Amino acid sequence: MKALILSGGMGTRLRPFTYSMPKQLVPVANKPILAHCLENVRAIGVEDVAVVVGDRGQEIRTVVGDGSAFGLNITYLQQDAPLGLAHAVSIAEEFLGEDDFVMYLGDNVLAEGIAESARAFRADRPSAQLLLTKVADPRAFGVAEVDAEGQVLALVEKPQQPRSDLAVIGVYFFTAAVHDAVRAIEPSARGELEITDAVQHLVERGERVVATEYAGYWKDTGSPDDLLDCNRLLLGRLGHGVHGEVDTGSTVEGPVLIEAGAVVERSRLVGPLVVGAGSVVRDSDLGPYTALGRDCVLDGAGIGNSIVLEGVSIQNVRGLSGSIIGRSAAVRGGAATGRRLIIGDHTRAEVAA
Ligand code: G1P
Repeated sequence: MKALILSGGMGTRLRPFTYSMPKQLVPVANKPILAHCLENVRAIGVEDVAVVVGDRGQEIRTVVGDGSAFGLNITYLQQDAPLGLAHAVSIAEEFLGEDDFVMYLGDNVLAEGIAESARAFRADRPSAQLLLTKVADPRAFGVAEVDAEGQVLALVEKPQQPRSDLAVIGVYFFTAAVHDAVRAIEPSARGELEITDAVQHLVERGERVVATEYAGYWKDTGSPDDLLDCNRLLLGRLGHGVHGEVDTGSTVEGPVLIEAGAVVERSRLVGPLVVGAGSVVRDSDLGPYTALGRDCVLDGAGIGNSIVLEGVSIQNVRGLSGSIIGRSAAVRGGAATGRRLIIGDHTRAEVAA
């Protein structure tokens, strides 16, 4: 089996971060979303992976490289315009050949991995196998109607009147039968070749299309709140250990991971949290549910339930929560009178009145 990982897209809901990085590289629990996905693919024994990239392809290549760090052999395929998920499959047709493959949207997090569904697919080899999950508002997703045996009866992309509450998760297993289906469909109203339409085409042709409900945690990390939610969950599962230095004036409660070269002085740490390599935390309160990237400096800071990217400095500001702070940002409190903000386009700041 091969894997096709889709890592294009604009990530407009994750601005301002996506002005300077592709959304798949935004970290949760100190690891790019895409890395969580690559690990899940490797865990099912797949080695040959094509990553479809858009405008931001170069940054993804720089971070992920040839895939050897993940035990993968990665080929990059360029998608010049966001013409849809099925269009991405057509770009990869030559790479995929006659092989079965798993298609994985690089901004989807499936915390329990995909081993169970991979096993079922390999045993049974239906033309397509989907993963579903119940959602409160299915109108934002592909929606499936499924019979009691798990056979998919119909599939509709973002229906105004959903026939079920089962949303399609961004991980699909296919045999090579999908390529004909991709060739047969037309662009949707949003101008994209929808993978949902290709799978519906398989259903209409009488091919076997099955679906199972995903038992674990799933998130399509489209918005800042999705990222924070994912961060909380994955931090809760991170291993703990102190690989840096924590002085005797500091206290540590709960699962805390201090990466190599990090220094913690006179601070209170409440896990789950991670302090990235080379970061300094001094006279601060950190956590719970906080991922501090590498080479940050916290001095007189108080922050919980947040994602702090690399190179950030926070001085003399307490009470930060539910925050995402981009690379090399500086947050200062104390000396200034009034409030001063120098923040980029599409930034969101919430300040106590
Ligand atoms: C895509 C698919 C949709 C699926 C979703 C999962 O939507 O088209 O069927 O439910 O991913 O994340 P998009 O993110 O392109 O709106």
